[in-house]
Formats: sequence, C-alpha cells, structure tokens
Amino acid sequence: MSDLKQALGEAVSAAFAAEGLSADYGRVTVSDRPDLADFQSNGALAAAKAAGRNPREIATGVLERLKGDPRLASLEIAGPGFLNMRLTSDTLTARVREIAADPRSGAPMVEPRRVLIDYAGPNVAKPMHVGHLRSSIIGESLKRLFRFLGDEVLGDAHFGDWGFQMGLLIVAASDENPAWARIAEQDDGEIEGLDLAVLDRLYPMAAGRAKEDKDYRDRARRATMALQSGKSGYLRLWRHFVEVSRTALKREFKALDVEFDLWKGESDADPLIARMVEELKAKGLLVEDQSAQIVRINREGDKRELPPLLVVSSEGSAMYGTTDLATILDRKESFDPALILYVVDQRQADHFEQVFRASYLVGYAHEGALEHLGFGTMNGPDGKPFKTREGGVLKLHDLIEMAREKARQRLHEAGLGAELSPEDFESTAHKVAVAAIKFADLQNFRGTSYIFDLDRFTSFEGKTGPYLLYQSVRIKSLLRRAEAEGHSAGPIVIEEPAERELALALDAFDAALTEAYAKRAPNFLAEHAYRLAQVFSKFYAACPVLIAPTPELRASRLALSQTTLRQMETTLALLGIATPERM
Ligand code: ARG
Repeated sequence: MSDLKQALGEAVSAAFAAEGLSADYGRVTVSDRPDLADFQSNGALAAAKAAGRNPREIATGVLERLKGDPRLASLEIAGPGFLNMRLTSDTLTARVREIAADPRSGAPMVEPRRVLIDYAGPNVAKPMHVGHLRSSIIGESLKRLFRFLGDEVLGDAHFGDWGFQMGLLIVAASDENPAWARIAEQDDGEIEGLDLAVLDRLYPMAAGRAKEDKDYRDRARRATMALQSGKSGYLRLWRHFVEVSRTALKREFKALDVEFDLWKGESDADPLIARMVEELKAKGLLVEDQSAQIVRINREGDKRELPPLLVVSSEGSAMYGTTDLATILDRKESFDPALILYVVDQRQADHFEQVFRASYLVGYAHEGALEHLGFGTMNGPDGKPFKTREGGVLKLHDLIEMAREKARQRLHEAGLGAELSPEDFESTAHKVAVAAIKFADLQNFRGTSYIFDLDRFTSFEGKTGPYLLYQSVRIKSLLRRAEAEGHSAGPIVIEEPAERELALALDAFDAALTEAYAKRAPNFLAEHAYRLAQVFSKFYAACPVLIAPTPELRASRLALSQTTLRQMETTLALLGIATPERM
C-alpha cells in the first residue's frame, strides 16, 4: 500500500525520465492551491533551468505522457510551468477505503533495526529541570514512533548515579548526621530518616558549597573516588540515595506517561571500565596528560579544536564521558543496536561528539550509528531558560500540578466536563494537562527553543493539545450518538470538497510518519494531527453526518469520522498523548 502522493510522484518521475530528463524532477507535493489542484509538480522549472530550455515546453511533454492516467480527473499547466493534478473521486474513495480497512491507518513499515533511545537522563537527588522534561517528551515520542514503524526499540533512562554529585551527597549526609557518618565510614547501623525531602535539601546545599569551598570540593572528589573503588559504607548510602530518587522519579514519569524499558544508570557501566581502559591502551588511544588519562579525538579538517575525552581523572575516578563510553560497550554486548539516539540538550553537543569519536576509534560502534539529537531550551518570558518566580528550577512535579490546575479551570470556563463524575473529571483534566505540555513542546522542531506559556498551552483554541483532544472527543460523541440512534458505518464514498480535503489529509499520514522518522522530529506528527483536526472540523461543518440526505451517505460519513478518529488517536499516541472518552 502506498500513499497517493508517492504513487503520483512515481508516475510523474517516469514521465520526466521518458522525456530524457532526470526522474528526480518528478517529486510531487500537496498543492498550495487546493481550490485548483490536489497535487502539483514543480519539476519542469528546475529541469528547464538546468537544461536551458523553456519550462512550459518541458511541462507540456510531461503532461502528454501523463494524459490517460485513470487516477487523474484533471491535469493542467499553470503559470510558468507548474503541473497541477486533480484526482478522481474514485481514486480518493479507493484510497480512503484502504486506510479505513487498515488497522495501522495507512502507516508504512520500515526494514526493522535494533534501536536504543537514551532519553530523560535524570540524576540522583538533583531535581529534574526543564531540559529533562524536553528530553522525556521528545524521547518518549521517538521511541513510540520507531517502534510503531517496526523497529525493535529499547528506551533507557540512563540514570545519572555515578559522578561527582554522589560524592557530594555522601559528604553532605555525613556532615548532617553522625549516624549517617558512621554508616559511611564504618558501614555500621541502619539508614533512617534519609528521605526525598532530605536529599532535596542536601544536594543544592552541597553543590552550592562546593562551588565556593575548595576543601569541601576536594572531600567530595575523594568520596566519589572511594565510592567508585567500592568502599562498603559509601556504597550502602549510595544504594539508598539511588532507591529513594528512583522511586520518586518513576512516579513523576508515570504522571507524564513516559515509560522506560531499561532503568540503567551510569554506574551499570562501571564494571566495564577497567576492560575499556585496557582496550583503549592496547589500541594506543589512551595518553597520559597532567596525570589524567585522555583520548585525543581531533580530526583533520575540524573547524575548531575539540578537547580530548577525559577517561580517568587525576584522582583516578570515572567521569561523565567515561561512563558514556563504557555504556556504549555495554549496549553493544547486551543488545547490539544498529543505532543509538541520545535525546539530550543541545548544550551537550561537544560531549557527545567526543564520546562518539572515541567510540568509533576504539571500535564500539560503526561511524554514524550514534546520533545526538539536541534540542533547544524551554524559556521564560525573558527569553532565558525557564526559572520559577523564586528563581529556582521548576520541578516536574510542580509543573504537572500547575498544568492540572489550569486544565480544571479551562474545562470550567469552556463549560466542559460538567456531566463527568469527579474521578472522570480529574482524569480528563490530567489528560488535558499532559496534552497541553507535550503538544506545546512537540509542535516545534526539536532544535527550536520556545517560551513557556501555560495560558496559551492549555487553551482549547488554536494549535494546542487541548484543541486536539476536544476535536477527538467531539468525534467520539458523534459516534456514540450514531450508535444510540442505531446507525452504523458503511462503505466510504468521497464526493464533496470537504470530504476530498479530509481524504487527502488522511492520505498524508504516511508522509508525516516517514518525515518524522527520517528527521527524528515528532513535530511532523504534531503538524499532521493539527491538520487532521482542522480539516475534520471543516468537513463536520460542511457535511451533515447524522442528518445526511441519504442513509448511504450517513453510513459513509460515519465511516469517514471513525477513520479520522482512529488515525488521530494513533498520531496523538505517537506523541505520547492519550485522549479522554468524554469532556
Ligand atoms: N544526566 C545527564 C544530565 O542531567 C543527562 C544524561 C544524558 N545521557 C547520556 N548518555 N549522557 O545532564
């Protein structure tokens, strides 16, 4: 099964080729003048330019060859040499029936590969900030998309549990309470009272102090080193920190509908580090530099100098890059992915470039099998990375709570949800909140930064998640009403302009998926969902469904509504957005 755009493109390409021109000119796009055409080809203009010929003359040659294609109702040359194509109603009807009969709503499948997606990347005891939020939202969507198209995918949270912040926490806990200090130093006693609230307080305090106090910093460095060397009391405290943080984080991710297949941490790569260091040495890649061990990753032709990858610090501890490199080895041996995607803040671009290059050098991955998918920041109204009114980082938990409160308010204002039970109302408000946050993020290309504006994100009007939920719920209620009145769906027939437009929008699902997949960019799916909602809304206004002029037409329009709803819910699910039954 192939979408109409692609099928037409193949026909136009063949026509160009038959004219002795490159088939590449045959690319077809959705017409920007739907009143005149469904699809257009601009290839004659480019071909004419390259060949020094007249574009209309080329277009005429192509047109002559396409004449007689039974799928085309009309075929015209416009302006300097655009080729405008309109499809017959039968062609659209056949295509939509195909989509309606397909449980995948017309989605393509890819040649399956093993793909690992590294996203969210929360850290022990450090509150998650908006960078982690964006990574979670984008990564979750990519995971669902890749899996839907047929890849074997694992999502890994890559928990930050092995670096300097662990040493800081051990020092801070030891200073705070003699009982905890005894556990740290003598591995003696039970851990009591060291809960999330304590961690939340200790970490920022310790991080702040380490910035100013060199002795404190050195203690934390030594503690990190001792932990990594296996000091038993430190390990016990550390395990406790990890457990407390992970439990809290899992709760927050669940609220966001973000799920990982693996909850591996940086620490899981630790057992592989010694071997990795040996392999780097054996390949002559590891060099000593100011009593640290580094890998030089510069390449000829680099526009700027990239610092080397620090593998073993002068204290002998593993660094961020060390665990990342060893994690690639771990992933290769446990899953052997053809592709690893790292969904991490653009500001870590250099770090990943260093790790990737080192990994190619030592042979843990093929060139190109590692991709850093950077993203921009979520900013406050001042254009700087978002901070709370108090100037701190916004915790994910608080963000969700804020969005939920706003969603309740929005539902009330719009007169929605009044007939729901209190539990259903809460569940709908939660879905509206999550849709608002996620859609606001995913509608932008991931590289773009955007401004956090909860008022706009939660509106039921405009290009928002709540608008899409509202349109979906509207279709659901239409279908429920039809059922209550005893009407059922029947064969789809595409006739009216609004039906044609809806058919073309449904056909465009394939291209949206293909593009989102190729560019690792869910915004193409967000765009598709929005377009589908808008076109459905137009159709609903122009074409009566329940009171259609004939029973056949009613059955056709009901089927068209069902098909739209299913494709819409599929698209939203790929964005990580769940649709409520009622509002
Ligand atoms: N924990 C890191 C941070 O908070 C993100 C981890 C990203 N993934 C990775 N493999 N380095 O910045």
